[in-house]
Order: sequence, then structure tokens, then C-alpha cells
Amino acid sequence: MKIMRKYAIVAVLVAGVAGLSVRANADTLLSLPAGYFNKPAVIAGAKLFARHCSACHSVQSLRFNRLASLGMTKAEIQKDVMLESGANYLQGMQPAMTLAQAKGWFGMPPPDLSHMVRNLGAGFIYNYLQSFYWDPSRPSGWNNHLFPKVAMPNVLQPWSGIVTKQGKVIEPGRVTPAAFHKKVADIVAFLRYASDPSVFTRYKLGGYVLGALIAFSLIAYWLKKEYWKDVHSDSAKHKK
Ligand code: HEC
Repeated sequence: MKIMRKYAIVAVLVAGVAGLSVRANADTLLSLPAGYFNKPAVIAGAKLFARHCSACHSVQSLRFNRLASLGMTKAEIQKDVMLESGANYLQGMQPAMTLAQAKGWFGMPPPDLSHMVRNLGAGFIYNYLQSFYWDPSRPSGWNNHLFPKVAMPNVLQPWSGIVTKQGKVIEPGRVTPAAFHKKVADIVAFLRYASDPSVFTRYKLGGYVLGALIAFSLIAYWLKKEYWKDVHSDSAKHKK
């Protein structure tokens, strides 16, 4: 499957270069906007994920209470991420449906997304979510340029609209392409955070560690100067 995906990416790139775009939204693969990964984006992404993805996908390795370290209050997490579903604040994110139900409906259980960014890369997921096209031959009515015959439907249809394989717009999205890119980037930011929840603590700690190293280097330098001061003046006396 991985190899197939690689071919699909190359095919999309080649088609883009040749000006024969098959992508729904752009001629070539899209790059994630620089600086897309920050706390407000992760929080926005967590809320979008809860509404659009968590019906099917779990994020087992991320406990809801962990989001408090981003600056969210417990009430906000319960209202906007747990969606007052009765889920446990101290447990990982579970999907609304059971695995058996999901398998019955999609023929394929939706994978847990805890480590998906490490597995597939943030850039791939960003493009995958924007590469769905209308294909009536598929059971869900949807296919994907980057994941041919995918079992997942285009859950972001209200934003992406409905586009054919050749890029013909059947129904425009309800938001501008720029707003669509931003929402998807926020979801990807959330998934990147889920795969590495200590990241912001590490960024902060990195600053302190560098600060401490610089402070100790200065102290060591002053000490060295202090010790060698006497040695220098002694040897100067000796020479005389
Ligand atoms: C209606 C159920 C459903 C919803 C809602 C849903 N997915 Fe999926 N998703 C699936 C299924 C089923 C698969 C497995 C596809 C396959 O293997 O063919 C999948 C697969 C994936 C994959 C793996 C793709 C790959 O290349 O292996 C990612 C990433 C993903 N979904 C992200 C999301 C995100 C982000 C959202 C929310 C915007 C979302 N999904 C919403 C059902 C869903």
C-alpha cells in the first residue's frame, strides 16, 4: 500500500508539472504553511478534530486532560473536545463508534491517529485530506488522489465542495480555499501534537538549558581568569 501511495504522489507531481492537474485544489502537492504549528493552531485543530474526525478515529495515546497544558480550561475541553459525550477526562480519545460497527460500515476500521504524523508525515496528511474527489463507482462515492480506493469518505465536503477526478467543480466549498487550507493545517497541527505531546514543554526547556549553559560558561571563564591572574603575575616576577 505504501508503494502504491508513493506512485500516486509521483503521478500527482508529474501531472502537476505537465499542467494536467488531477488534484482537487491545486496543480501540485501543497506545502504546509510555514509556522502552522503553534499552540492556538493545535487548540483550533483539537476542536475541529472532535467535530469532524473523532466519530470514527481514536487518538488513544492522548488523554483529554493533557490539552490543559496548552492553556485550555477543563470546561472548554469538555465542551469543545469531549463534546459532552460522557467520555473520561483522564483517558485517551476514543471514537464514537465501535471497531465492529466501523468495519461493517467501511470494510476497514479507521486507524488510530496517535502516531499517524510520525508514520505518514504531516505533509502527506495535509495533502491527503485535500485530495478527495467524487467517484460514484466507490461505495462511499469518494476516492482520493493520494490513496486510491480509500475507505474513508470526504468528511470535509462542506469546506472542499465536490470535485471530479479531473478537477471539475460540481459543488463549490462553503469556505474559501484559503480558509479550507487553514482548517486542514490546524487539524494536522493537532495530529502532530498528538504524536509528540511534550513538544512545547521541550521547546521551553531548551531555552532554559541553553541559558544555564551560557551562565555556567561565563562563571567558568571568570574562574579561569581569577586563577590564572596569580599564575601570570608570579611568572612575571620570576622572570625579573
Ligand atoms: C466516517 C468515518 C471517518 C471519519 C469521520 C474520518 N475518517 Fe479518516 N479514515 C476512515 C477510514 C475507514 C480509514 C481507513 C481507510 C482505508 O484504509 O482505506 C481512514 C483513514 C485515515 C487516515 C490514514 C490514511 C492513510 O494514508 O493511511 C488518516 C490520516 C485519516 N483517516 C485522517 C482523518 C481525519 C484528520 C479526519 C477528520 C478530518 C478523518 N480521518 C475522519 C474513516 C473516517
